Order: sequence, then C-alpha cells, then structure tokens
Amino acid sequence: MTTEPIYLDHQATTPMDERVLQAMLPYLTREYGNPSSPHVFGQAAARAVRTARRRVADLVGARNELEIVFTSGATEADHLAIVGTALAARPHGGHVVTTAIEHKAVLAACRRLVDHHGYTATRVAVDRHGRVRPEDIAAVLTPHTVLVSVMHANNEIGTLQRLAAIAGITAPRGIVLHTDAAQSAGHGLLDVTELGVDLASLSAHKLHGPKGIGALYIRRGLRVTALQTGGGQERGLRAGTPNVPAIVGFGAAAHLITLGAIPPPPRVRALRDRLQGRLLTEIPGATVNGHPHRRLPGNLSLTLPGIEAADLLDRVRGIAASTGSACDTGSGEPSHVLTAIGLTRAQARATLRLSVGRTSTDTDIDQAADLLARAAHTMAPAPARSA
Ligand SMILES: Cc1ncc(COP(=O)(O)O)c(C=O)c1O
Repeated sequence: MTTEPIYLDHQATTPMDERVLQAMLPYLTREYGNPSSPHVFGQAAARAVRTARRRVADLVGARNELEIVFTSGATEADHLAIVGTALAARPHGGHVVTTAIEHKAVLAACRRLVDHHGYTATRVAVDRHGRVRPEDIAAVLTPHTVLVSVMHANNEIGTLQRLAAIAGITAPRGIVLHTDAAQSAGHGLLDVTELGVDLASLSAHKLHGPKGIGALYIRRGLRVTALQTGGGQERGLRAGTPNVPAIVGFGAAAHLITLGAIPPPPRVRALRDRLQGRLLTEIPGATVNGHPHRRLPGNLSLTLPGIEAADLLDRVRGIAASTGSACDTGSGEPSHVLTAIGLTRAQARATLRLSVGRTSTDTDIDQAADLLARAAHTMAPAPARSA
C-alpha cells in the first residue's frame, strides 16, 4: 500500500472542497442553459452566475457585484487589468509601474505593453523582506504614468504589501492601482474598498474552488479595454460563453470562506509556526525568507545552506512541496523573487517553499518536520575542520 505524500503546496493550488463540487454538479448536467438565453434554461444559469458574482464580490469587499468580471483565472485577469487599463488610458500617458517580485503573468503583461504597444515600464525594487516602499513607488511616477501594479501577497515568500499606503499615492494623482490578489483573497485579507485598489486579480483554485476560473475586480466607472471581444458577455469585457459550473464553484468556495465554513487562517498560521519552529531548531543555518510578520499565514520559504532544495525534495518523496528556485518550470534560472530580495543564486537553489493550508493537520506538520530534518542532516555539507 502506498501512502499519499503530505501536501504542503497550498500556494500552488488547493484541494477543491467537496461542497464546492456538490454545488457545481447540477450545472454540469441538468442545468445546462446558456446564461445569455432568454428561456427558462438560460435564466436558471443566469441566476446562478448572478449569485456567484455576488458571493465573489462579498469575499473581496466589492460594493457592487457588477464590479466582478469572470475570467479563466488570475493570469487572464492580470492581462485584462494591465493591458486593458493601459490601452484605455493611452491618451493620458504610456508609462506603467510594477515591482521586481510580481508573478510572471504581471511581468509578461507589462512586457507586452512595452514590446507591442510602445509603453515604458518601471520595475521598483523591494527590500530584503520583499516589501516595496510606497515612497519608492512615488519616486518613479511621472506625469505619463497611468497604472501601478503591486501584488497583495507574494506567491513564493508570502510577503504582504502596504497597498493602502500605495493607494494613498496613486489615487490623488489619478493613477490606476492594480493588485494581483490570487494568493491573499482566500485568507480573508483582501478588502478592495478598504485598501483602495481599483483592480484586483483573483483565482478560484487558490481558495478551494475549481481550476480554470478567476475574476477581475474592476472599480465601478474605471475604463478598461476588452482584450477578448465577440459576443459581449461580461459587460463586453470578456467575450465567450461563461463557464457556468466553474463560476458556480468559485462562488461556492467564496461563500464558504466568507461564512468561515472552511477552517480559518489562525489554525493555518499556528501549524505554519510550528513547522517553522521545528525546522529552524533542527536544521542548523536554516533561514526564513519573507517578512517575519506581514506574510501569508501558511507560507514558509526556507533557505537551507549547502543543500539543493530540488535534491532534497527528490529524496523526501513523502512530501509534496516546491522549490523556491524552480517555479519557472524548466527555465533553470533561479527565482526572480529570491534574487530580488538579495539571495545569491546558490541560496535561491537552496530554497524550499512549504505552504500549509486549511486541510493540513498536526500529524502532517510533525511528520513533515521529521522527514525534512532527517533528510537535511544526511545531505548537509560536512562542517569545515579547524586546523
Ligand atoms: C500571485 C499569482 N498570480 C497569478 C497566478 C496565476 O493564477 P491562475 O492559475 O489562476 O492563472 C498565480 C498562481 O500561480 C499566483 O500565485
């Protein structure tokens, strides 16, 4: 009998909640209407999409459900937010600002503006904890800046950014503020109204919903140019027949989280802290990346000096986690996030990302700590002998 590995990769994706599946099932079978159809089948589907939109809006603190546009995930939402906003704002300027530690989807969208549309883009550096200083954002703004994109929580090191302070800089200048909130939305950390962001990218599979569905929060009145046009769905911002079952699943997951019906983050944080405490004690020289306090409750990015993280994970088959350096599948390059916070290439290769989630248990944490500490001891370079 083979036992399943301990899943410590909740930042890559989360298991879908059984209740989410149950909510989706009717829309895969008997409730098959197209929400754009005027007949009863279509109207039933349209009602379900409306409910899901309301639930996603509630999850992120949006005032109006029409501020939610469904997309295929956070990648598409990032592109719509960045390229769509910049194109709509073209008469006002052609400069966008982002940070050095954004997800590749954001960096690629900015790159596209530069390569194909003649914009300029500035990447602002972060400190050793992965935080961008609001004053550093202010310093690079020009009269031509139309958009600033700063992620809410980082996917590798978990660091949370000071979005409200950044909004305090962009809003008075009429500059649009986008945040990639794929990692934070499921932790009850995102309130778009409170933070003052204009656009926020979301992804259902990071919060126990299905894959292939996400959304962009677009503050009411903001102008965004659609990138995918056709049938005029999603108020003309994202053409194509909506993926009704996935949207219903996203809404169900959002609702469960809003209701507190999936074990809430304090438990996740306690488990992460326990794992962190044990590994720091038992693996000499191990260090934690990311902000000591202002970071996602489940995130643990650890650098284990002298140890190739990929080899460690290869050896510890009982744990499903990821390396900090191999996030760019197959590129062989060290993570841009880890190098941006000052790690050397060797340190980046020695970095492991463990992400605890709502389905993690005490036993998972204790067994994972045992397995990792044991493997690290067998792999650690021998201490240099004194002469
Ligand atoms: C911060 C961040 N942005 C964007 C994405 C992409 O999300 P999706 O898989 O929904 O396209 C991810 C997921 O890896 C992420 O962590």
